[in-house]
Amino acid sequence: MTKNKSKKISIVMGSQSDFKTMIFCQNVLKKLDIKFETKIISAHRTPKRMYEYAINAEKNNISVIIAGAGGSAHLPGMISALTSLPVLGVPIESKKLKGLDSLLSIAQMPKGIPVGTLAIGEDGAINAALLAASIIAICDSKVKQRLDQWRLTQSKSVKKIPK
Ligand code: RP5
Repeated sequence: MTKNKSKKISIVMGSQSDFKTMIFCQNVLKKLDIKFETKIISAHRTPKRMYEYAINAEKNNISVIIAGAGGSAHLPGMISALTSLPVLGVPIESKKLKGLDSLLSIAQMPKGIPVGTLAIGEDGAINAALLAASIIAICDSKVKQRLDQWRLTQSKSVKKIPK
């Protein structure tokens, strides 16, 4: 069995154009000092790459998958169909429907294959990283400590009265 500390979070996205959103996810994981990898994998443009990635994810020491996709955003659901690892979906803001298409495609998975769906865009990318950290914090006390500290700092940064 693989040791927990060698596990990593995997960030995947359907296109290079998604990176301007998913970079927020990377930034949070960096701040929390959590090991991650980042890949571009498209369910429709590179289906073979997606299949190989998903069926080997567990073997490759991935603990949680964060998948960003836009439009008819089937990437998170397709990956989740191929692995029982937790998959978190980030709906990318699309040009024509402002990400509503992405949100519904990711959130409305029929029963049996779940995708934890976050908010559209930057907020979703940040929260996906925080939620992935919470998941791994269950078995990793150091990550839990850093995550709790991050939340405390956030609370302290909220002013009590307007200046
Ligand atoms: C999806 O299509 C990607 O996730 C991206 O959000 C969207 C548009 O991709 P590009 O045309 O910018 O490559 O697969």
